[in-house]
Amino acid sequence: MTQGNRRLEGKVAIVTGAGSSGPGVGNGKATATLFAREGAKVLLVDADLGRAEETLSLIRKEGGEASVFRANVTKAEDCLRMVEETMERYGRLDILDNNVGISRRGTVVEVSEEDWDQVMEVNVKSIMLASRYAIPSMVQSGGGSIINISSIAGIRAHRSTPYSASKAAVIGLTFSMAGDHGKDNVRVNCIAPGLVYTPMVAPRMDDALRQRRREAAPLGTEGTAWDVAWAAVYLASDESRWVTGIVIPVDAGLSVTTPATYSPLAQQQYQRL
Ligand SMILES: NC(=O)c1ccc[n+]([C@@H]2O[C@H](COP(=O)([O-])OP(=O)(O)OC[C@H]3O[C@@H](n4cnc5c(N)ncnc54)[C@H](O)[C@@H]3O)[C@@H](O)[C@H]2O)c1
Repeated sequence: MTQGNRRLEGKVAIVTGAGSSGPGVGNGKATATLFAREGAKVLLVDADLGRAEETLSLIRKEGGEASVFRANVTKAEDCLRMVEETMERYGRLDILDNNVGISRRGTVVEVSEEDWDQVMEVNVKSIMLASRYAIPSMVQSGGGSIINISSIAGIRAHRSTPYSASKAAVIGLTFSMAGDHGKDNVRVNCIAPGLVYTPMVAPRMDDALRQRRREAAPLGTEGTAWDVAWAAVYLASDESRWVTGIVIPVDAGLSVTTPATYSPLAQQQYQRL
């Protein structure tokens, strides 16, 4: 049995988008796996049950406790059922990791209304719906922790306008929810992953681009879904009991740099000065 430090012992978690959209380990899969390793019981929610089952088998191999549930988190009735099912299976709800997200590209001139609406529905409305049904059960359980997954695209231009707008909305939603539900001991925080290498982005990458993404940030190394998942463990655990309404960038320092001084080309030029 692979055990962590049992930082989430006794807690029950929902992870949405707990499968991965391709071979390998994405943010939802890694987060669900670490939650289980740290002692939480985890409901693995995905619109594609086969993907959630892959995560389940990973967790079971390690001796963790989890089960799968099919839901489209853009649908209110699915979100309600997801929470009811958690309470029926595990009797409480402490953690909600709102991980589901899709990417759509294009400027405001190019993007179709259909793509715009879809990305807003999947990336933003789903968080409102899942949280709306989760919060009363968390309150009944004595409080809880909601973790919303944004992106560096929510705080920087990223050549994907609908995605950026949706991820900025996730940050605004986090602040507002943190303000509204703190009195009930429901903490709401946000993670903004940088240029991590996951199945979601892998189809668009080649070696040269992966190298450029590494070099763009001060740490100069490639991030993985596990880096995002460790931030989620902290926010889910009681270690962060006095933390609400924050955005944690997990980005190797990318968001504190200026490309004019830190891009590989700029660095060569600065070395000559
Ligand atoms: N990979 C990156 O570089 C990166 C960077 C920044 C932020 N993020 C964010 O991380 C989150 C996802 O990461 P991932 O690696 O787990 O992605 P992923 O694409 O590998 O997995 C997401 C899962 O969500 C499921 N899903 C999609 N729509 C759904 C819906 N409506 N209802 C239920 N399930 C649905 C998919 O079936 C899939 O299994 C997203 O919010 C994404 O925007 C990723």
